[in-house]
Amino acid sequence: MSAAPDSVGVVALREPKSLRLPPRDERGRFMRRQSAAVLPQPGHHSIPVLFVVSEMADFLKAGGLGDVAAALPRALRPACDVRVLIPGYPEVLQRIRAMNIVGRVDAHAGLPECRIGLTHQADGLPVYVLLCPELFERSGSPYVDGSGAEWDDNAIRFATFAHAAARIGAGGCGLKWRPALLHLNDWPSAMAAAYVRWTGGDTPSVLTIHNLAYQGVFPRSVAKAIGVPKAHLEDMEFHGRLSFLKAGIINATRINTVSVSYAAQIVGPEEGCGLHELLARRAAQGHLSGIVNGIDDSWDPATDRSLPARFSPADCRDRHLNARAVRTAFGLPDNGGPLFAVVSRLVHQKGLDITCEVAPQIVAAGGQVVIIGGGEPQGEAQVAALVRRFPGAVGAFIGFEEGLARRMFAGADFLLMPSRFEPCGLSQMYAQRFGCLPVAHATGGLIDTVDDGVTGFLFEGASADGLRRCLQRAIRTFRSPLLLGAMRRAAMLRPGGWTPAGQQYHALYRQAAGIAATRGLTA
Ligand code: ADP
Ligand code: GLC
Repeated sequence: MSAAPDSVGVVALREPKSLRLPPRDERGRFMRRQSAAVLPQPGHHSIPVLFVVSEMADFLKAGGLGDVAAALPRALRPACDVRVLIPGYPEVLQRIRAMNIVGRVDAHAGLPECRIGLTHQADGLPVYVLLCPELFERSGSPYVDGSGAEWDDNAIRFATFAHAAARIGAGGCGLKWRPALLHLNDWPSAMAAAYVRWTGGDTPSVLTIHNLAYQGVFPRSVAKAIGVPKAHLEDMEFHGRLSFLKAGIINATRINTVSVSYAAQIVGPEEGCGLHELLARRAAQGHLSGIVNGIDDSWDPATDRSLPARFSPADCRDRHLNARAVRTAFGLPDNGGPLFAVVSRLVHQKGLDITCEVAPQIVAAGGQVVIIGGGEPQGEAQVAALVRRFPGAVGAFIGFEEGLARRMFAGADFLLMPSRFEPCGLSQMYAQRFGCLPVAHATGGLIDTVDDGVTGFLFEGASADGLRRCLQRAIRTFRSPLLLGAMRRAAMLRPGGWTPAGQQYHALYRQAAGIAATRGLTA
């Protein structure tokens, strides 16, 4: 793992490593540490921001990005006039309460004309919906069809989306509102920063990289249809193809990733996915930072209605009822051993193969494993094979089910997260909040959020050997109820709300908005 070079302008949000438990209140109950500062009040430096995102848990989510999109704009509302822009997928159109057509985006190059709808969520959050039935109204996920294959017009779909964001930034769509800043998320909206510059605009932008491994890379033949000026083809050039994310990285005013450690890692060749030199240049200009994600208030085991038994850091006595319910749901007997959970997309990044390699040791030590996940067919087949090999010790559910995931966090003793890389990771934070200790590879956001030996366990090197050694520590802890209880409480009380991240994004917005004239990468 590369150390943070001095040039990375990272915004640190690391907690001091310590074995100190959180303070207790006058009745001896543990108190969650609160952030002292709060976001500014409405009207104070209120920046109009368009939060541009291709998934949002209010409507649909394919991963953690959807969770962030639902939480971060809301965390920022006290300080900014944040409005979301999302494509008009069927799930969005079905779930909105009412919508007015408020604007139009003209066709551009081979990108079709779109209409813009405005809806308000129950809490008042304004959401602009980009309406283009031919591009967005189809069943499947935002990015792939029912068989898991990428939509073959993804370049047009997300260039249209990004272009619309840039036009809204320019005040050109007939809306009665104009953002002072575009907050772009990942490759599907990254090109908005490029469209702004290519059309001589000056709307500042912040590009958040949630996962550098997904870059939106398309054949050069799409260049004309998506309207890349010849002089700017280099902005997107990536091994003979065109990278949407690269266009964003070059042209955004500021770039951040979702943890401090991942920001430091992506400027090196190991984690830089071929863009490390460019990222290192942006870092050298002080334009790259890391802001650790938070988790929202719905993750509270004391109030979560999807749990058979609710509990709190002060009183975990009923937590074992959730473990019982999980074992029953997965058809496993209660053998009194440790219960390990995997809640993950089944993709190479998440290291499922590493988990499969160590599963025999877990079972031999009296442990059980419950897995919920979906993704690559190969991963799903590996899971099925594991269940067949260890009946009564390994149970799995292939699919995406948030209620079950919540019960697993609330019932399991440990969460296995041997991710090869992890920009931030939310699952480990949800697990901690629910008293389930992460056993995780020391990479990216896992370094920033898991305090080894205090709120979980970390191991170096994404390998079965590393995980095996770490598991021995976890199992020893399981056998010491006092230590397990102390770590569980420390994990549950780990501060992890959105306020600190909201403050840092607010500061980043102000920085970006104040420097519009020198936006982007200068040669
Ligand atoms: P990533 O975005 O890379 O998938 P994160 O940890 O940031 O990783 O976020 C994953 C999100 O998806 C979390 O909310 C996690 O609980 C949830 N999740 C992942 N797989 C499943 C599943 N099979 N069923 C339900 N929730 C899942
Ligand atoms: C990506 C990353 C994950 C991160 C999430 C939200 O999907 O893989 O680590 O937590 O985005 O930022």
